[in-house]
Amino acid sequence: MPRKKLIAANWKMQMTVREAESFAVGLKNALPELTDRDLALFPPFFAVPFTVRILEGTGVVVGAQDLYWEKQGAFTGEISAQMIVDVGATHVLVGHSERRHVIGESNDVVARKLGSAIDSGLVAVLCVGERLEDRERGEAEAYVGDQLSVITNLRAEEWSRLVIAYEPVWAIGTGKNATPDDAEHMHRYIRGVVDRHAGTDTASSLRILYGGSVKPENASGLLGRGEIDGALVGGASLALDSFVEIAAA
Ligand code: PGA
Repeated sequence: MPRKKLIAANWKMQMTVREAESFAVGLKNALPELTDRDLALFPPFFAVPFTVRILEGTGVVVGAQDLYWEKQGAFTGEISAQMIVDVGATHVLVGHSERRHVIGESNDVVARKLGSAIDSGLVAVLCVGERLEDRERGEAEAYVGDQLSVITNLRAEEWSRLVIAYEPVWAIGTGKNATPDDAEHMHRYIRGVVDRHAGTDTASSLRILYGGSVKPENASGLLGRGEIDGALVGGASLALDSFVEIAAA
């Protein structure tokens, strides 16, 4: 079965509740143009329940940008998987580049978050991607391979709740996207790793998104590749028009 493309908006620490609501209403109106692809929004957490309410029944999924692995307790400022489920979201980003490289999350932290997300029934979008220095040293695959060590604990029935997003650090927010060839090459490598751990059926049904400076001008080139199952869009997802244009590419 061919993999359906998934176009996801990661708003990061941007958009007020009112802006998120008006985006969601606009997206709902644009849905008739956006058939045969799945759409997801990752608003800042406080905007999640409002966005969920507006998009209920449309098929557009809403997720949180991060979670903490404990169920509840004295963890000031943190949000658990159960809280994400409680507000009606179904997805969560795990290990985004900014969590890893700005906030300092290790693979161990990412592994705990991934486990908690999947155990709670959320779909986890696990983000991986090499830094510029890894690519320049010819070690991009080794770096991403190391980040993928967190998926080795997944049980057979859990793989359907995993999406991987390949987002090279040097391409995020820089305006410099990976070429479709380079992205496709890394997606093949990632699928090969999954194949070795979970078998060919799982690997061939797993969606691997590309992220890093996806814009209306480069979306068709990237999404036209068979190995690229969608996009995780940051900056260009903040304006409805450009997100819709990418989603329609
Ligand atoms: P960008 O961000 O599209 O602004 O490069 C992508 C991401 O961080 O998910």
